[in-house]
Amino acid sequence: MELFSPIKIGNVELKNRIVMPSITNGFAKDGFVMENALAYYRARARGGAAMICVEDGIVEFPRGNNVIDPVSVDHDKYLPMLEKLATVIKQNGAVPAIQLSHGGRRAGAPPNSEGLTPTRGLMPIAPSMIGHPRPGFIVPRELEIFEIEELIEKFGQAAKRCVEAGFEVIGLHCAHMYLCGEFLSPWANTRTDKYGGSLENRARFILEILARMKKELGSIPLIMRMNGSEPAGGNSLEEIREIARMVEAAGVKAISVSTGFGPVLKMRDVVSTQAPIGTPEGVLVPLAENIKSAVSIPVMVGNVIREPEYMEKIIREGRCDIITLGRPLITDPEWVNKVKTGFYKDVRPCISCCVGCQGNVMNGRPMTCILNPLVGKESDPLLQPTKTEIAKKILVVGAGPAGLEFALTASSRGHDVTVWEKESAIGGTLTLAEIPPRKEAIHKIIRYFENRMQALNIKIEFDKEASVENISAFKPDAVVVATGGKAYVPPIKGVDSKIVHMSHDVLRKQGIEDTKVAIIIGGGQVGIELAEYLAEKGIKITVLEVLDDVGGDMYIATKQLVLYGLEDHDVRVITSVLIKEIDENGVRIERNSEEEYLSADAVILSAGLRPQHELSESLISKGIKVYSIGDSSETGDILKAVHSAYGLGLVI
Ligand SMILES: Cc1cc2nc3c(=O)[nH]c(=O)nc-3n(C[C@H](O)[C@H](O)[C@H](O)COP(=O)(O)OP(=O)(O)OC[C@H]3O[C@@H](n4cnc5c(N)ncnc54)[C@H](O)[C@@H]3O)c2cc1C
Ligand SMILES: Cc1cc2nc3c(=O)[nH]c(=O)nc-3n(C[C@H](O)[C@H](O)[C@H](O)COP(=O)(O)O)c2cc1C
Ligand code: SF4
Repeated sequence: MELFSPIKIGNVELKNRIVMPSITNGFAKDGFVMENALAYYRARARGGAAMICVEDGIVEFPRGNNVIDPVSVDHDKYLPMLEKLATVIKQNGAVPAIQLSHGGRRAGAPPNSEGLTPTRGLMPIAPSMIGHPRPGFIVPRELEIFEIEELIEKFGQAAKRCVEAGFEVIGLHCAHMYLCGEFLSPWANTRTDKYGGSLENRARFILEILARMKKELGSIPLIMRMNGSEPAGGNSLEEIREIARMVEAAGVKAISVSTGFGPVLKMRDVVSTQAPIGTPEGVLVPLAENIKSAVSIPVMVGNVIREPEYMEKIIREGRCDIITLGRPLITDPEWVNKVKTGFYKDVRPCISCCVGCQGNVMNGRPMTCILNPLVGKESDPLLQPTKTEIAKKILVVGAGPAGLEFALTASSRGHDVTVWEKESAIGGTLTLAEIPPRKEAIHKIIRYFENRMQALNIKIEFDKEASVENISAFKPDAVVVATGGKAYVPPIKGVDSKIVHMSHDVLRKQGIEDTKVAIIIGGGQVGIELAEYLAEKGIKITVLEVLDDVGGDMYIATKQLVLYGLEDHDVRVITSVLIKEIDENGVRIERNSEEEYLSADAVILSAGLRPQHELSESLISKGIKVYSIGDSSETGDILKAVHSAYGLGLVI
């Protein structure tokens, strides 16, 4: 495959066309790379990617921080760990690269962190006093010329440090509307001096940085990341081509094409940096082509490029040269090796949900992955599966993600595992979660579990409902209850009306008969996704939510797409509502002390789940050893189900 053919960036040969792009992971402390980051990158380098571009190196810590705890490259005290980082990547077969960055106005409050926490109280700086368009950001201070010169020097010094540390490719981060991107864009740069105005002036800052960095690099190639498109008021596609030409002429040896502005903006035409679940494969490829048409250096592109055949196709067609594969390498560090050796079906899939990765990092927490509990804990001895000394006969009840992940972990340790599932297929609630718009990727998780269960030859019995009697007769050494949650029925007058349905039943039946108008009670993730799904089928929907917002703690970009869907289908969303009564023709509500009656053919309850302990308690009373995991123990999501299952699988 072309995907596995070598390519050169400057004089550095990459063994294949897959590069891990910068992914800030929240593992660093006070600017220092930590030991767990070494293990995290070791696993990704071993996994076969040609080049690992480690997370952004901040050239001015903390004023230029992109998150609360980034890696800093602005002082020699950071060198020993940077050196270890470059070495571990190199020793494990990949080219170590680093991307230098400054947060600019984005340091003024990355999403969900408070005020000036990332900058430790310092005022953020930018080319102009233009605040980030997302509410909550501190308006930055405009840089003086002498400060611009100091910053250029800082980039140079940082480049020198990174070379000394052993990085073999050095990048400049001009994408995502951080400081360099802000200078480039008329959207954020309204200066009237030599650093603002014409494209030539706006590009001056990065060209001077590149020239300064080059002085330190010798033969080490420079690469650059830039946005392939900008919203109205920003650089046009022609200007973007011109920037690409300018930086090629300045000595840049490859361009990585990206988009977005970090925190998601309410702009339908902007693809976010970490495009959410449901984003079409290769959404940025046309932007890469635009840049490729202007330059002769290699062009890299990523953001929801997942399928090896597609990667092969776009490389063969000359639409790009290198794939940046980000989140899939978080989920499965062995992605490249598995695909190269023909085992793509064994790849643990990334579904672009951002719940474990970006969702945590932007909240100031270390990154994880919903499907990979080992992220950032690769060297934690307590989390490595070890062969069991006493093989137990274990019965798992329920083949949702919790039951399946447990079965895989426990079986790999040598236990004799059998799974009983009352339905005729695996997946549990995932089979419902994949139904709403843009959620098809969830099916990849089901397929992955199916393949792994077959590969490990784990016994699974379908249409087998577990009861105290049949479990007792099976005589297991231990039972793992993974039966999922049970629907919560809120105590509303008339909730037993015949027009009331449960959300999971509606999803299971893929719709609701004889219904033109429906009310959904509960605007959490399930409620609003179901609302969009039914609205697409032509049903007039109203969502009622007692809280002041819908979507609960959904990942912001995923939620935004659902909200657009609701808007497009004229779904009425009523928040902060009191539900007084349901009758056979609709619902009576109160809001702001005013009552309203909403007529409907159907009322759908989507008020969340509760754990179900009944089976566990009955088994315990019979003296059977029982464990409970996933939604049946504590309702949550895939992450909680998989992580709790893995944890139990390690120790049972
Ligand atoms: C519409 C919708 C969208 C969702 N979207 C997301 C999302 O985007 N991201 C996310 O993280 N989570 C999402 N979720 C939640 C997620 O699906 C659940 O949190 C997760 O599936 C819980 O896993 P589990 O294994 O604990 O339980 P389940 O997946 O519910 O599996 C339990 C299994 O046990 C079986 N079972 C029950 N009783 C018995 C018995 N007595 N004998 C044998 N088998 C039994 C059931 O048939 C089922 O197969 C969504 C849920 C819904 C409904
Ligand atoms: C948690 C997280 C942190 C990221 N941090 C950075 C970063 O520091 N610099 C950067 O250029 N891109 C960053 N990105 C963007 C990725 O490099 C990549 O472009 C994006 O995830 C889309 O590609 P993918 O679909 O292959 O993951 C980050 C992405 C994630 C998920
Ligand atoms: S948390 Fe979701 S988006 Fe992030 S790496 Fe894991 S599967 Fe992919």
